[in-house]
Amino acid sequence: MQPSSASLSYDYSVAKLFTYTMVIFGIIGMLVGVLLAFQMAWPAFNLTGVLGDYAEFVTFGRLRPLHTNGIIYGFMLSGIWAAWYYISQRVLKISFNEYPFLKALGQIHFWLYVLILLLAVVTLFAGFTQNKEYIELIWPIDLLIVVLWVVWGLHMWGAIGVRREKSLYISLWYFIATFLAIAMLYITNNLQIPTFISGYGSVLNSVSMYSGTNDGLIQWWWGHNAVAFVFTSAVIALVYYFMPKESGAPVYSYKLSLYSFWSLMFVYLWAGGHHLIYSTVPDWMQTMGSVFSVVLILPSWGTAINFLLTLRGQWHQVTTNPIIKMLILASVFYMFATLEGPIQSIKSVNALAHFTDWIVGHVHDGVLGWVCFSVMAATYHMVPRMYGRKLYSAKLIDIQFWIQTTGIVLYFTSMWIAGITQGLMWRAVDEYGSLQYSFIDTVVALHPYYIIRGVGGALYFVGFLIFVWNVIKSITSGDKIDKEPISATPISAS
Ligand code: HEM
Ligand code: HEM
Repeated sequence: MQPSSASLSYDYSVAKLFTYTMVIFGIIGMLVGVLLAFQMAWPAFNLTGVLGDYAEFVTFGRLRPLHTNGIIYGFMLSGIWAAWYYISQRVLKISFNEYPFLKALGQIHFWLYVLILLLAVVTLFAGFTQNKEYIELIWPIDLLIVVLWVVWGLHMWGAIGVRREKSLYISLWYFIATFLAIAMLYITNNLQIPTFISGYGSVLNSVSMYSGTNDGLIQWWWGHNAVAFVFTSAVIALVYYFMPKESGAPVYSYKLSLYSFWSLMFVYLWAGGHHLIYSTVPDWMQTMGSVFSVVLILPSWGTAINFLLTLRGQWHQVTTNPIIKMLILASVFYMFATLEGPIQSIKSVNALAHFTDWIVGHVHDGVLGWVCFSVMAATYHMVPRMYGRKLYSAKLIDIQFWIQTTGIVLYFTSMWIAGITQGLMWRAVDEYGSLQYSFIDTVVALHPYYIIRGVGGALYFVGFLIFVWNVIKSITSGDKIDKEPISATPISAS
């Protein structure tokens, strides 16, 4: 006879470890983000006047990749993996306690990840980079990342292999997609030749095996699909699990999840060309990127609508359960970013938007609204169940929610205005066809918006600190709970 989920004693040791790195890298990554934002408003924050020669370590150029790598691969991936080690046991109806090899793989996965994170921080601070966005880490670290990914894969396929539940729940499809797509894209874009092989250059440097336009194409095939398979499919996996679990309502439509999954998989891989519009890439490829991007609205909205309709008849929970409120806002921001992205992919719009702060606004309404809210809501759901304690305060979640929502709105509205202003000023010509504005004119015009973005980012960071406080207090002093509640009520003391 199969054990019921209730009788299995789950092993949360690795999920807890990833939760800690999620918190640590969330704080570091966002703090650096806030510093970057103020550096753009007031260059004095680069501290060149104060630190002299040592200022190189805190200038915008050095810190920016630390922000993106730290927050994407430190914070987000930790949140995703914490959820993997939590969700997989439940949907597969196994416990890692039953399988020592799964336990061991989980530990190897985590500690190798920590080693890579440390190496990443040190090398990026020291200024070693491959100079390709979202894949900056140097080749020796890339090799470790491949091993890390294989270890996760072994854990994933191992767990699936020994499962008791025959059917694979929707979240698993998305985790598998993340695993496969990132493996393929990361390796393809990372084909590099270390320079020492030719007898020149440092042992840490390498050159891409692609050149020119081909290099650009491969880079954005990766870049866009890092968004698709880290920022999107893995996060969808989380929401498909936590939305029904937290609300107690079944997923609205299995069919819709199936259609959206396969169409998302098919369409996303072709859309990367939208990063290369008006570049040297053949025109038909740019058009293809543009068209596939617009089509992407369908699977993206299909998924988001499935999330929202899961709450049909249960909408009162938005007012009674702040975790549901976070998940709903995340779904709405998912719709928002996946409408804005396709609009920016239209050639004539991209002519205005490309290289401007409007793109930075798009990035952050996606990551702050969709990704981070999903990760934080997932953590709030998992913590009481992993530690057997009530959440410290539902009230604090509510306060955090409003502070961060205000922060996001300030962030993206200021970047929209800044970006469109910038785009229009760059292209403005007088009656003789000469450029009307110099670059510095645009910097002066953007200054107020950079300040507003800094304030918005700082608010978001304050909200994140409240989240961290709430999590720590729940773990250390939340009231003990003997039995896991089924759903639909926030497990909280207040
Ligand atoms: C239908 C889905 C989406 C489409 C079609 C899309 C489209 C675009 C476009 C056109 C750009 C700007 C390219 C440029 O001119 O530089 C862009 C940039 C970006 N988008 Fe999206 N987007 C989508 C969803 C998302 C989501 C949900 C997120 C985050 C959660 C996101 C994160 C990013 C990032 C990080 C960049 C910046 C890339 C860079 O460094 O230049 N996108 N996207
Ligand atoms: C406290 C909140 C945050 C602040 C204040 C902030 C600020 C910034 C700033 C100032 C930049 C540089 C923009 C530029 O080069 O013009 C940036 C870039 C970026 N940030 Fe953040 N950030 C925050 C949170 C996040 C989070 C949570 C994520 C991801 C989960 C993220 C992902 C990115 C990405 C992908 C870029 C590169 C965008 C591009 O190339 O277009 N940020 N951020």
